[in-house]
Amino acid sequence: MKAIIGGTGIDKDSRFLEKMEMIVTKYGDAYYSIIDGILYLPRHKPGHTLPPHMINYKANVQALMDLDVDEVISIYAVGSITRRLSPGRFGLVRDFIDLAFSRANTFYDGSTREVRHTPFVEPFDRKLGARFARNAINSGSSLALDCVYITTNGPRLETPAEIMAYRNMGADVVGMTLGTEAALLKEAGIRNAAVAYSINWAAGLDAEGISFLEDESIERLARNIINIAEKTLTAAG
Ligand code: HPA
Repeated sequence: MKAIIGGTGIDKDSRFLEKMEMIVTKYGDAYYSIIDGILYLPRHKPGHTLPPHMINYKANVQALMDLDVDEVISIYAVGSITRRLSPGRFGLVRDFIDLAFSRANTFYDGSTREVRHTPFVEPFDRKLGARFARNAINSGSSLALDCVYITTNGPRLETPAEIMAYRNMGADVVGMTLGTEAALLKEAGIRNAAVAYSINWAAGLDAEGISFLEDESIERLARNIINIAEKTLTAAG
């Protein structure tokens, strides 16, 4: 089974909400809908009710394992730190820095009595990412490649000094969810390609303060990425 994990574009869209089911995993409940052979998982729960630090990431990823998912395209709204991925555009994430601390981010937390240090030299599945990129270009979209995502704890947004520090650390985009989710997907052995789309310049980079794209533009952007993800996951190879 192939899956798409997302926020906006999935968690308030009636196409997915109408078919939403709940699954009880050993880590708690998760929600999903299956349409035309693709499983959609709203990471913040249906209706977008959970802030990033309150999401039960382990239940979400365990649900994918319990439902035999082996390939995921995960979609993230982010703030832009560099021009590599400016607001209104999307791109593939090649690597991440994880600064989030207030959530469970491993299946190997000591309770299993197994000590495991999962390698993260290649956090994402390159072939799946390349397939997504090909489908994006074939459908007339341009995309950024090789982006680095920094995960903050949230839910507050960053200070300008933090964003300057993150830029010096090599981050292109900032968000609050990818690091935790990507870590668990990798531990679970699920192939994952991460796509980020920017909805604002990060703190200190916009003279106006923080200004987000209009809801309509955000939804259109998310919808386009979901369409490309669907093509990628249903096309052979
Ligand atoms: N910071 C953190 N997370 C975000 C942002 C931001 O500026 N925009 C969208 N998600």
